[in-house]
Amino acid sequence: METRAADMIIDYTKPVKVPTSGLEITPADFEKAFVKAEKDRVSHVLIPSRCIEKRVAVMGEEIARASKERDEIVLLVVLKGAFVFAADLGRAIYRAGGPRVRYEFIRTSTYGKEIKAGGETEREVKISSHGVNVNGDAVFVVEDIVDQGFTMSKLKSHLLKKAGAKSVSMCTLLDKRLDDPPPEVIEIRKELKLDCVGFRVPDVWVAGYGIDAGEDFRHLPCILAVDEDYYRWGR
Ligand code: IMP
Ligand code: MG
Repeated sequence: METRAADMIIDYTKPVKVPTSGLEITPADFEKAFVKAEKDRVSHVLIPSRCIEKRVAVMGEEIARASKERDEIVLLVVLKGAFVFAADLGRAIYRAGGPRVRYEFIRTSTYGKEIKAGGETEREVKISSHGVNVNGDAVFVVEDIVDQGFTMSKLKSHLLKKAGAKSVSMCTLLDKRLDDPPPEVIEIRKELKLDCVGFRVPDVWVAGYGIDAGEDFRHLPCILAVDEDYYRWGR
């Protein structure tokens, strides 16, 4: 893969901070073309695909290193959004020489087809855990994005109190830095310890790499900032 000078300024060994305008890396031609063709629905590329590839490889190395005493890592994939990230992360752990990986899948629904409104203090999180077996396991939750923290905090207590997990570590590709959260959300986010974070993103609605806006864009290899007016009002 070609390395451009600007890549050198990004340190992929720790969570990468993404400015509101996106990482200062020229997106691939197909990414630029996609944004141009979809300008009603898409604002700009936030994280080009090659930056995601690099960071996920390092996250796999970190998890492999931290788990070398174990004979198995249980990755609990939070559907739908985390399916692409989890697939790449499991293979990155394998490439880094980590222990064998077992996948489990759980489904949560927090925003449905909506996008976040301002000033929310709580939200119902629906958890579908049919067929999930993590009883007695040290579970590694794999999430796409932590926003106000409702999903991960409810999921963590579900896994410990109802599903019988021995422990819960939390790994998310994206961690959203909230602009003006109400005190309730500040408290939830403070309580939520994230063990492994890929990128810190601004408070905009994102999609791509498994993550959707109204079910659009999950198949894209990059992460986009979407046109929020379109997804709030325009469809
Ligand atoms: P939270 O409960 O507010 O932390 O939101 C977490 C869940 O909402 C994630 O699992 C995502 O499915 C979804 N979500 C939050 N922010 C975004 C976004 O910017 N784009 C798409 N989905 C999001
Ligand atoms: Mg989700």
